[in-house]
Amino acid sequence: MVKVYTIASGKGGTGKTTVSVNLGTMLALLGKETYLMDADIGMANVGLILGLQNAPITLHEVLAGKGNINDAIYEGPGGLKVIPSGISLQGFQQADPDKIRDVMGDIVKRCDFLLIDAPAGISKDGVVPLAVADEVILVVNPELSSIVDALKTKILTEVVGGHVLGTIINRIDQSKTDIISKKMEKVLGVKVLGIIPEDSNVRRSASAKTPIVIKFPTSPASKAIKRIASDLVGVAYKEEKSVEVKEGFIDRFSKALFKKKSEK
Ligand SMILES: Nc1ncnc2c1ncn2[C@@H]1O[C@H](COP(=O)(O)OP(=O)(O)OP(=O)(O)O)[C@@H](O)[C@H]1O
Ligand SMILES: [Mg+2]
Repeated sequence: MVKVYTIASGKGGTGKTTVSVNLGTMLALLGKETYLMDADIGMANVGLILGLQNAPITLHEVLAGKGNINDAIYEGPGGLKVIPSGISLQGFQQADPDKIRDVMGDIVKRCDFLLIDAPAGISKDGVVPLAVADEVILVVNPELSSIVDALKTKILTEVVGGHVLGTIINRIDQSKTDIISKKMEKVLGVKVLGIIPEDSNVRRSASAKTPIVIKFPTSPASKAIKRIASDLVGVAYKEEKSVEVKEGFIDRFSKALFKKKSEK
């Protein structure tokens, strides 16, 4: 059965795009036909962090009735299919968020999972993704403003006929996971689906335009995302060893070896 998940938050910058891109990549790597749609049509970031910023046809053109959805699908990491939004303001102005439901109807016919990266806030383009999904996943940071905005988003989702599956707590200090997780469940009234620690490799992988689950597969955030993806697919998660070979180490080692040999 197809599952459409909207990744939302309320507050901006909590990690929605990071979670969408990496969860999508992991679901694809687990053998599931997975699509990721960037419904943050005003501040599109999926294309930027996957190096698709120059895509000629995007969701903007499709929502403006000027392009076909088949031309707005791009090959992403691990076999993930990506539907980016454009970065131009004009494209945003012309895109009609109400058409997202039609686009979605077309995509769900061909996949196992569709992830929708939602914008922050509760404007129209933010509300449509909450209503059209089978389930909404809230990405929350362990701070008051983020929790309050997530609660507002949960209520709004229910008002528009949607359903919140649970929350992912992102950027958490690993020593406090149990207390925060319990508090979050109590305040938001939803299940905690996963806990992603603060991890400096998240930013590094974004700069390298590669999902952290591929660039640093045993980094703490990658492990957390893999666990969440396994739960969604319904397979057991097997933890990999945390032997992270430092970037450049092999290069430096072989260069030193080569230098020594040639010095002989
Ligand atoms: N677990 C993490 N550890 C460290 N940095 C993180 C983590 N998750 C996200 N970040 C960083 O936080 C910033 C915001 O992340 P991201 O763009 O995914 O949030 P967002 O909710 O999509 O933001 P927006 O509301 O603007 O769309 C980025 O710089 C990202 O690299
Ligand atoms: Mg985003």
